[in-house]
Amino acid sequence: MDQTFSPVSRLDGRLTMPADKSIAHRALMFAGMAAGTSRITGQISGEDVNSTRRCMEALGVEFTDEAPGTLIVKGTGWEVPEPAALDCGNSGTTMRLLSGALAGRKGTFTLSGDDSLSRRPMDRVAEPLRLMGANVRTSEGGRPPLTIRGGSLKPVVYRTPVPSAQVKSAILLAGLQADGLTTVQEDSPSRDHTERILAWLGCRILRTEGQVSVQGGDQLFGHGGFEMELPGDLSSAAFWLVAALLSPAGMVVIEGVGLNPGRTGIIEILALMGADLGLNANLPGPEPAGTLFGRACKLRSTEVSGDRIPAAVDELPLVALAATQAEGTTVIRDAAELRVKETDRIAVLAEGLRTLGAKVEERPDGLIIEGPTPLTGGVVQAAGDHRMALTFAVAGLIAREPVTVQGWDAASVSYPGFLDDLKKVAG
Ligand code: S3P
Repeated sequence: MDQTFSPVSRLDGRLTMPADKSIAHRALMFAGMAAGTSRITGQISGEDVNSTRRCMEALGVEFTDEAPGTLIVKGTGWEVPEPAALDCGNSGTTMRLLSGALAGRKGTFTLSGDDSLSRRPMDRVAEPLRLMGANVRTSEGGRPPLTIRGGSLKPVVYRTPVPSAQVKSAILLAGLQADGLTTVQEDSPSRDHTERILAWLGCRILRTEGQVSVQGGDQLFGHGGFEMELPGDLSSAAFWLVAALLSPAGMVVIEGVGLNPGRTGIIEILALMGADLGLNANLPGPEPAGTLFGRACKLRSTEVSGDRIPAAVDELPLVALAATQAEGTTVIRDAAELRVKETDRIAVLAEGLRTLGAKVEERPDGLIIEGPTPLTGGVVQAAGDHRMALTFAVAGLIAREPVTVQGWDAASVSYPGFLDDLKKVAG
């Protein structure tokens, strides 16, 4: 499906975002693994989280939509039926986290996904799980489908080759089922939702600089259930933040948005670029949340590399878009990981932004962007990737002429309500 986005003269208003996708995946999984009944509140939406729900249902978990925004989850204590065939759709988080969670269960589980997920690397979870004693088969080149024959696991100390919250979480979830202390070491910190929520649920998590460990035990699988309010998704809010900064006038305020320090890299990067934005963290709980605002302003170029990459990994396409409007040369490097997301985001961004008149040079591990260049209209491809679809939508709002996004339906993976929210802030 094609969708055309026309330039706006200003963006104004207050929005709330769909529930944080990363936290929602974990809340649904952990509630399903617990022994009791849990209540999860928040605007859960998007096909990715639905994939997790479907897989957990196939594993015996019962979900009831009690009211809009309230989900009741009847957990199984992680007693899972087998054999289970699990369709993870487009969701890498579903596939990688469930791989770890199932590695210690008796049975044979097959995890598959759509075309995009079927091209993504899974050896990064298969290898550490094998070291822990699980029998994990991948298809050629370490791609899905994955077949896991679970069983008893031994603890490991594992240094991840790339910082990845999905890999770290898979190992920690397997570690919960191993006899002893499992440790994951990372060169740069990735988002910490798994360890935060597991610790909040009483699991024995130890965190020190550069590493996190979990002591095996059944604190999660024996848990009587929990109540958790999901914050809004900062990764979705980022589209409005950048749209507001780059539009000719106005201010957008986003309330109740997750502000986990492992996710706020985009705010720091935009602040370095001179953005007129602010945030106010005001909700206590396992996951900090608060209000975020962004106002139309001028930006300057920056360099993004190293530890800033994992802290903004999903928002780097927006940094690239912002850079097209910033004064000077922006360099994004150490970001080769973008090539193995839902699509090759470096290639798709470079091509799409160039189509719109931006000066973008593609590098193996990033992009170099010369700004500012007014964006012309044009036709760009979402390439089956929700974040590409949404980034190009924002490009259309701030370009001189309309931008048509081909394959717009990909946006429903994380943000099905984007067009409704656009009506609220664009008048
Ligand atoms: C996620 C982690 C990130 C991110 C993805 C969600 C998660 O992937 O890109 O959208 O929920 O753990 P990696 O940790 O593999 O980089």
